[in-house]
Amino acid sequence: MNYRIVTLPGDGVGPEVSAAAVEVLHEIGRQFGHQFQIDEQLIGGAAIDATGQALPEASLEAARQADAVLLGAVGGPKWSDPQAKVRPEQGLLALRAALQVYANLRPLQVHPALAELSPLKNERLQGVDILFVRELTGGTYFGAKQRGKDFATDECRYTEAEIERVVRRAFELARGRRRHLTSVDKANVLETSRLWRSTVQRLAGEYPDVVVEHQLVDSMAMLLLTQPSRYDVVVTENLFGDILTDEAAALAGSLGLLPSASLGEGRNALYEPIHGSAPDIAGQGIANPVGTILSAALLLRHSLQLDAEASAVEKAVDHVLSKGPHSRDIGGEAGTDEVLTAVLKALRNNRH
Ligand code: NAD
Ligand code: IPM
Ligand code: MN
Repeated sequence: MNYRIVTLPGDGVGPEVSAAAVEVLHEIGRQFGHQFQIDEQLIGGAAIDATGQALPEASLEAARQADAVLLGAVGGPKWSDPQAKVRPEQGLLALRAALQVYANLRPLQVHPALAELSPLKNERLQGVDILFVRELTGGTYFGAKQRGKDFATDECRYTEAEIERVVRRAFELARGRRRHLTSVDKANVLETSRLWRSTVQRLAGEYPDVVVEHQLVDSMAMLLLTQPSRYDVVVTENLFGDILTDEAAALAGSLGLLPSASLGEGRNALYEPIHGSAPDIAGQGIANPVGTILSAALLLRHSLQLDAEASAVEKAVDHVLSKGPHSRDIGGEAGTDEVLTAVLKALRNNRH
């Protein structure tokens, strides 16, 4: 088959890690007889520099037409002036909103070979397997913003329909796993969280086979570190999900390891590592490409229904995490290219 993939490398390490993931897609194409036609487009700071806009119309149009979109990362010090009129991150937010990819899936597992890297004791990491479902197109990120001379506001707004669609998705995902759903909110303080909680409670009646619990976000931040293996599917609003998943990445050993899939109702979907442009290591060829390579695996599975291909990528990554080489963020010395080469080699040695 022939598939059209739009890549949005973006800024910092974005181009480095997305180039690695594209190589993995091409290797999969060779092994399984597919053609991945890659259409590289601008987003973020790179797009601002070239066009003045963080998400040029051509990039959005290409993303809409594509079979799937793979993104690196956006942002960096060059564009971070608080007074700046246009910011790289606006490009990413506009893309998520335009594609209506409201459910951001962020799976987390701890690879046994990396458990030593986690700040947590090894025994607490046994059996950690969490699927975060982060609401991605609502809340504080998209509410009305106001900046006065000496004040600023970011409105947090959710409609019941926005909550319902992402929570339903989380219930459905829980059914395919251990049938346990944790909904995280701040219902003791926030009105949006009370709407969130009552929506979850209402929907729970339709999923009697799924055990539901509610957890306030502050204690959840603690529980993720003290009892991470208790959790199966965790659903939460946009900002809480952003913060909790970076925290959870520390359990796995590095932010550079975690992939994500952003899904909506239609065929449009966006795949990206959860990390940012990592300006502190950009341009050195040492970024960990695993989070982006695993995002490409999610792309194969969710957008192209290529399950065997997705599993082949995951198996190859698993092999490299077990045997090395490891990039610096996970205690090794390998550069991005060496990790990529090892993944490609593991793919070739696999028997599908
Ligand atoms: P970051 O995720 O870029 O980096 C945090 C830390 O993790 C850094 O020390 C970095 O070196 C390390 N790290 C991240 N990815 C890594 C990888 N693949 N391999 C090895 N180490 C890695 O977060 P930040 O520094 O807070 O933000 C930097 C910029 O990235 C900001 O402009 C922010 O807005 C942007 N950002 C973009 C996205 C995105 O495009 N999806 C996500 C998060 C942050
Ligand atoms: C992420 C990032 C983005 C977010 C930023 C860059 C807009 O942190 O993808 O997690 O907050 O959603
Ligand atoms: Mn984030």
